Amino acid sequence: MTESYAIVTNDLTKNFGSVHAVSNLNLKIPFGKTYGLLGPNGAGKTTTVRMLNAIISKTSGNASVGGYDLLTQNEDIRRICGFLPESPGLYSKLTAKEFLEFIGELYYLPKDTISERINELLELFDLLGRENDLLEGYSRGMKQKVCLCAALIQDPEIIFLDEPTSNLDPAAARMVKNLISELAKKADKTIFICTHLLDSAEELCDVIGIIVEGKLEIEGTPQEIIESVGAENLEEAYLKITGATHIEDLLAWREENSIERESKKKKQKNKKKKYRKTR
Ligand SMILES: Nc1ncnc2c1ncn2[C@@H]1O[C@H](COP(=O)(O)OP(=O)(O)O)[C@@H](O)[C@H]1O
Ligand SMILES: [Mg+2]
Repeated sequence: MTESYAIVTNDLTKNFGSVHAVSNLNLKIPFGKTYGLLGPNGAGKTTTVRMLNAIISKTSGNASVGGYDLLTQNEDIRRICGFLPESPGLYSKLTAKEFLEFIGELYYLPKDTISERINELLELFDLLGRENDLLEGYSRGMKQKVCLCAALIQDPEIIFLDEPTSNLDPAAARMVKNLISELAKKADKTIFICTHLLDSAEELCDVIGIIVEGKLEIEGTPQEIIESVGAENLEEAYLKITGATHIEDLLAWREENSIERESKKKKQKNKKKKYRKTR
């Protein structure tokens, strides 16, 4: 039954001319789960979420989101879904508050509801006090937080996050990951995350699907995926499944981890210094 799943796709396919971006994708994602679509650059992740949010049309197959048919009920889909795009646009000459009011109005939310939601979200994302500053003066992490607020303003049932932690420094990435896992735990939302970062996927997702050249190669819990290819860990499993040609993605992930480790080390050193000073 379609209604018991948040997202169902049947042979969903998208071609851009001769490029087979997504081929015969079949997904069944229950409500309340956090699903991670993992794969190297160009695998078809963004194309998948853009189709599921009715931003681009499919070539063939079909899908339902929140029980609504992608082809005939896309207004309903837009109403119940929040979407954080891969490279979101912000109006830099607006303040965070003005920008979020504008997004709330796009959803036809009543003014009172908009201002309540903005206050809740600014508090949750620790932006209170900065809401009247122009977005052009925000750091990358703060901008990402504002984009997340925009994706959540209409209290969506299903949330799509395309590369939510890419291009963020380790501290900002950690903060965004914490926020997503809070959201998953507290609000019992269905969350669909696209990422090429293994640590984000392993940490946040109940179920992972690995997509390579538009085809879903494997799906399961991180543990199931590791076991099914006889790997030691998700990194090894990912390499086996995607092939060693995608080593850059893996290196990017390692790099991020090593930066994170370095910054932890530095913090610990600084703590020790402070501790010595106070003695
Ligand atoms: N608008 C477009 N026009 C032509 N080709 C596109 C377009 N969008 C994506 N593609 C192609 O589709 C494939 C999948 O891209 P994408 O979904 O962005 O991958 P991912 O998000 O996994 O990195 C790539 O080969 C990409 O070049
Ligand atoms: Mg992408």
